[in-house]
Amino acid sequence: ETWFSRKPRLAGKRVVVTAGGTIERLDPVRYLTNDSSGKMGFAIAEAARAEGADVTLIAGRTTAKLVDNSVRLVRVESAEDMLREVTARYPDADIVVKAAAVADYRPVHRSESKIKKKGEQLTLELERTTDILATLGSRKTGQFLVGFAAETDNVEHYAMDKLQRKRLDLIVANDVTQEGAGFNVDTNAVAIYGPEGLVDKMPVSAKRAVAERIIDHIVARAGGKEA
Ligand code: CTP
Ligand code: CA
Repeated sequence: ETWFSRKPRLAGKRVVVTAGGTIERLDPVRYLTNDSSGKMGFAIAEAARAEGADVTLIAGRTTAKLVDNSVRLVRVESAEDMLREVTARYPDADIVVKAAAVADYRPVHRSESKIKKKGEQLTLELERTTDILATLGSRKTGQFLVGFAAETDNVEHYAMDKLQRKRLDLIVANDVTQEGAGFNVDTNAVAIYGPEGLVDKMPVSAKRAVAERIIDHIVARAGGKEA
């Protein structure tokens, strides 16, 4: 080993990352979505690729762009699309990182034609989407599962609850009320929890730096075994 090269720590590993917000259509021109920019997930995908992993990035609505075109990009719209694309790759995956902001509800009815206005009020009927991460957690066959939690209060409590309920190996929590954290910015401030509790806490940092730190923890916990 020379001073300028370092052994890629995720060589031979298959990594699946989800990013961005899902889109749940009401009609051909309208949809429900959220503020996720996708930047955190894109940064994680590229950081994993930089460590030599085979990376598939499943992305919903996003403003992020891939710099490294050796990351395999799959575009999706709805939570159901994302569920299908992720579960198809799950049996062969070693590591799955779910950074996407998946809609919790979708319209019960999706109109094939543009909905015309009528009356003074409109009530939308919504139904729950499938929890992708919980589905993966219940079907684990050795995959290392990483989730995210965007919270406005009781961050540790909710993050640990999600980690346990969804059978995650790590959860990355961010307090979205904090300046420079969460949606639509280039920085994030996160706390990382494992089954044993708090593992790491990072001040406001560039999303790429946050991504690299998350990869460090994944390598330490999942990357130890030879592929
Ligand atoms: N998630 C998912 N499928 C869903 C909803 C969420 O896979 N239908 C994943 C997200 O990608 C994220 C994690 O679950 O990694 C936590 O998402 P979050 O919205 O914080 O938690 P929820 O379990 O949806 O709970 P709530 O929104 O009520 O806080
Ligand atoms: Ca949610």
